[in-house]
Amino acid sequence: MRVFVTGGTGFVGRYVVKELINEGHEVHLGVRNPRKAESLFGGDVGTHEVNFLDRSSIEAVLSSVNPKAIIHLIGILFEDRRRGLTFEKVHYLFSANIYETARQLGIDRAVHMSALGTHDSAPSRYHQTKRWAEKGLMESGIRFTIFRPSLILGPEQKLFFDMDSVTRVLPVVALPGGGNYRFQPVDVRDVAGCFVRALSEPETEGKIYELCGTKQVSFRELLRDIFSFWNRRVLMIPLPKTLMYYMGKIVERLIYPPPFSSDQMLMMWKDNVCGILGDAESQGVQKVLKREPIPYEESLRWALEGYAEITSSSG
Ligand SMILES: NC(=O)c1ccc[n+]([C@@H]2O[C@H](COP(=O)([O-])OP(=O)(O)OC[C@H]3O[C@@H](n4cnc5c(N)ncnc54)[C@H](OP(=O)(O)O)[C@@H]3O)[C@@H](O)[C@H]2O)c1
Repeated sequence: MRVFVTGGTGFVGRYVVKELINEGHEVHLGVRNPRKAESLFGGDVGTHEVNFLDRSSIEAVLSSVNPKAIIHLIGILFEDRRRGLTFEKVHYLFSANIYETARQLGIDRAVHMSALGTHDSAPSRYHQTKRWAEKGLMESGIRFTIFRPSLILGPEQKLFFDMDSVTRVLPVVALPGGGNYRFQPVDVRDVAGCFVRALSEPETEGKIYELCGTKQVSFRELLRDIFSFWNRRVLMIPLPKTLMYYMGKIVERLIYPPPFSSDQMLMMWKDNVCGILGDAESQGVQKVLKREPIPYEESLRWALEGYAEITSSSG
């Protein structure tokens, strides 16, 4: 199948693109930086520069590629207000532009990346705008599948880079709310598998799936597991979430990307585990891939071994 992918140059996107290629699909990437795409995938994919704020740019590319389906992965964790890249623009407006253009061109299948915690009354801007994007797609008439993963484990997970660089300098980290906030991390290979399998499984159409791994872990436990793999003693200091929210307000004005943001603190207000919200299918990996997710311990070890390879080869 000819598939148009956005966000293919990101952490998750790389695995989705590889899986698509392995499964024999013809892949076309819509990107802001064609050089990055070419250095990652060479001639294995078609690369097309797109401005996702400009519908005519999207239309030109989609009409020339004429894909059977779209996989839309673009998302940001922090707003870049200096460049006008707000959550509203990148999550909602990009999606609205892509799906409205696709609908007009008769492209009627999309697999969409959302995030666990996305719901109508979510406190964070990240999740609110993800919800608007979901709703826009659901109302577009396009046959959709939406995935909402918890934290995704893989060698390129940003948390590893952040924690590594911070604790190398000073082995101390702050734990918002004591780090009791729970995730249910899911392996990036399972996430990629779900996106690609959805294309060939009509039973996934019209559904929202939560994607979680085998184990719920608190933020404190996850960090403890990461530091113990690195054999690094780190002092974890609990700080109130409200205090970190206001600290985030300050640092995000001074540094881009910030080490953490106020919106991230709002994202941590509720546990990020599957089965809490009633508007989605929980057990997404099991339902779509028809097997259990890769176990947490195996996934974390693989991800951290891969992280070590990346960082050793980049010096
Ligand atoms: N990582 C997780 O744990 C996690 C968990 C749940 C949901 N998600 C969702 O999964 C998706 C992918 O996340 P990720 O971890 O792979 O993020 P990532 O590594 O930061 O990749 C983001 C992708 O979006 C593209 N992008 C960002 N801003 C853009 C813009 N203004 N114009 C065009 N392209 C833009 C990036 O392009 P460049 O390569 O040019 O920067 C990159 O391809 C996001 O929607 C995220 O919300 C991630």
